[in-house]
Amino acid sequence: MRSFICFIAIVVIWISHKVYRWGNPKSKGVLPPGSMGLPFVGETIQFFSPHRLYDIPPFISKRVERYGTLFRTSLVGRPVVVSTDPETNYYIFQQEGKYFQCWYTESFIEILGQQSVLAYHGVIHKYLKNLILSLVSPENLKEKLLHDMDGSTRNYLRAWSNHGEVDVKEAAADMIFEYFAKKLFSYDETKACKKLRENYKAFIDGLISFPLNFPGTAYHACLQGRKNATKVIKDAFSERRSSKEIHNDFMNYLLEEVNKEETFLTEGVAVDLVFVLLFATYETTSAGITLLTKFLSDNPAVLRELTKEHEAILRSREKQDSTITWREYKSMTFTHMVINETVRLANIVPGIFRRVIKEVELKGYTVPAGWVVMVCPSSLHLNPDKYGDPLAFNPWRWEWRREGGTKEAHVHLRCKELFLGQEMHAASKDFMAFGGGVRLCVGADFAKLQMAIYLHYLVTKYRWTVIRGGDIIRRPGLVFPNGLHIEISEKQKCSEPNDAKEKVIKA
Ligand code: HEM
Ligand SMILES: *[C@@H]1O[C@H](CO)[C@@H](O)[C@H](O)[C@H]1NC(C)=O
Ligand SMILES: *[C@@H]1O[C@H](CO)[C@@H](O)[C@H](O)[C@H]1NC(C)=O
Repeated sequence: MRSFICFIAIVVIWISHKVYRWGNPKSKGVLPPGSMGLPFVGETIQFFSPHRLYDIPPFISKRVERYGTLFRTSLVGRPVVVSTDPETNYYIFQQEGKYFQCWYTESFIEILGQQSVLAYHGVIHKYLKNLILSLVSPENLKEKLLHDMDGSTRNYLRAWSNHGEVDVKEAAADMIFEYFAKKLFSYDETKACKKLRENYKAFIDGLISFPLNFPGTAYHACLQGRKNATKVIKDAFSERRSSKEIHNDFMNYLLEEVNKEETFLTEGVAVDLVFVLLFATYETTSAGITLLTKFLSDNPAVLRELTKEHEAILRSREKQDSTITWREYKSMTFTHMVINETVRLANIVPGIFRRVIKEVELKGYTVPAGWVVMVCPSSLHLNPDKYGDPLAFNPWRWEWRREGGTKEAHVHLRCKELFLGQEMHAASKDFMAFGGGVRLCVGADFAKLQMAIYLHYLVTKYRWTVIRGGDIIRRPGLVFPNGLHIEISEKQKCSEPNDAKEKVIKA
């Protein structure tokens, strides 16, 4: 009996010690202020509680108010430091490999692949990133991808208008998926017997779920979806190897790499690369397209200005229905402002995570090795000191920003001279929709090109109204619970008056 009581006493002491340590983690210096929440669960539940599109997550803003721009918490069983401080964020991105390393939860890596580009660091990461760039670098976008992307976007929009009504979120995802799967490994969903897109759908539904892996859970379904999807890619790879048939696609290039004498690339790594790229591309870019459509529907003045820009492009062409050229794309100044404004306001990626690999000082606090830091882009993008009236969708603000300013129109006009000449790269401290440093999104140019092409055809050829859906919430990742349904039809040709005039002149 005595030993039992003794045992209980030890257990109680041990648990209270653990709980105490939980709330007061060890550190050689001073930790950032904050609360570690409940033992083990931490503040995970608060972090994942849904909120509205336009807000900085209440989880963040409440704590910033209480503790300041750098605070500690605990998420998914990890001690975490959240940074909303622009200088600190910038520093974190610049110190990749030295003090910090790109980090995702174990379950996320399990889902996206142990051998995916996200799981590698240093030289191998660089090598994989270069492989990806061989597909989506600006040079390649210009020479190889633009033409087909133009065709695919055009066809899809025409099909939408023939149908009369679509859910933009789903339809844009289909569009990008089909186009990019072809570029990656000549995959054609309409001809294939194993439906890859279905597997991805099953996969994405469970992506933001609790990592409990047994039949019936969302996480289990997600892993199943991954397994089925990678099987399709693996089979294509094996077939390619045995048939020796040459395709003009990314997989062909990967196969050449795999067959080289001294190479890091194995079939497993190649399959995970294709899998992750397809996912990273169509989920993010279709969200971007949906948001663009919504923001334009809500802001007629922006739509007018955008239409003006694109109709001017049509007018300056010899043939109205030729494909968009790279030069035209580069000339779409207002379009780029609209895209910047959309990704700023939308914060498609709500948090960017890094693991601390060597004890580091941040703003006078000490963060021990093994901790995770989270950079929160929305607290920067919605900061009124950086972006005046931050919740307004105002593409014009980029006009002044491009000249190096950080203030709004009226302010800018007064002190234009002050801002001119400021260094351009300073802007990246204020803008991190695509991350920063060596982990900067490799697909940013691809996504922007796809969005610009979409806008071009949407505003020149079609009119549309939102008929259903359009709700967007954060959990904290963006979700469109009921899509964005639009009614869409072809415009009368805007160029008719011009053509008529020309005929008169010729006559
Ligand atoms: C609007 C669309 C997109 C947004 C907002 C976006 C955002 C981001 C962000 C914030 C990161 C940095 C993650 C980190 O530092 O931990 C990232 C990384 C990445 N993105 Fe994107 N992305 C978009 C489109 C794309 C596309 C189209 C592709 C594929 C071609 C792509 C492929 C990747 C890859 C492979 C990484 C990992 C890079 C690395 O670890 O070095 N993304 N993206
Ligand atoms: C994945 O494959 C398994 C076994 O072939 C099947 O039972 C399951 O329905 C598939 N899942 C999806 C989402 O296609
Ligand atoms: C969009 O944002 C990027 C990053 O801040 C900037 O370099 C670029 O000039 C902006 N584009 C326009 C058209 O304002």
